[in-house]
Amino acid sequence: METNDFNVDITDEQVTFFQENGYLSIPRITTDKEIDWLKGIYDELFTERTGEEQGRYFDLAGPRAHKGKETLPQVLGPEGQFPELRESIYFQNARRLAAKLLTVEMEKVGGGGHMILKPANYGNETPWHQDEAYWNPEVLPHSLSVWLPLDVATIESGCLHFIPKSHKGEVRWHRHINNDPLVHGLVTDDVDPSEAVVCPIPAGGATFHHCRTLHYSAPNSTPYQRRAYILVFSGPPQKLDKPSDRPWITEEQEALAKLKSLAAERE
Ligand code: NI
Repeated sequence: METNDFNVDITDEQVTFFQENGYLSIPRITTDKEIDWLKGIYDELFTERTGEEQGRYFDLAGPRAHKGKETLPQVLGPEGQFPELRESIYFQNARRLAAKLLTVEMEKVGGGGHMILKPANYGNETPWHQDEAYWNPEVLPHSLSVWLPLDVATIESGCLHFIPKSHKGEVRWHRHINNDPLVHGLVTDDVDPSEAVVCPIPAGGATFHHCRTLHYSAPNSTPYQRRAYILVFSGPPQKLDKPSDRPWITEEQEALAKLKSLAAERE
């Protein structure tokens, strides 16, 4: 691993753009050399399906523990197994820029990652959603995601699409993909895709989006896989007096509990 002397910075105009529009795209956040190193770790995690039993590897767009081909495999918390990821140029730059975009002191910004793979010539779309819809309804988060593709991200391979300014509204009504609460992935129908901005970026570039920004990515129709390593950074959240209404979270918890008790009965 390289030492971090590859400091990426953003201008005040870019900070303002992010705060007004809820997203930002930059052409570089790490080096080609580090991308190669990250690919090694990434491929190992997806080949070994590390942490599947603990729920740290699963198919975002398929029911839990299904036996078919994965459509949108995901690894949660790769830094647990590879703590050196936290020392990477990508992580360090992403955290510093996140603090700037969130206008929070660096020391108060914490975060971690997940990885989403779109296999070549295959894979599902990541339907329109807001990240906050997945999260604890009892708090108002102050968070953003940094999205790093390890392979060039084009419209055809599954780069991100954003709805500008959508982070200024409410969390929309979401439901589970295929209306199946055992599918972790969420989708909202409350969106006008004609308002979307598409953000293709090279490998090693990055897009940032606020936790409330509506985003989407298409299925991968290219003969190359599209590997993405996402980091979510947060400043201190605000406790809400009244929790937000997110029944889709309860539905998933209940469906998982049912699945568990059925499995226990069979044993
Ligand atoms: Ni998302």
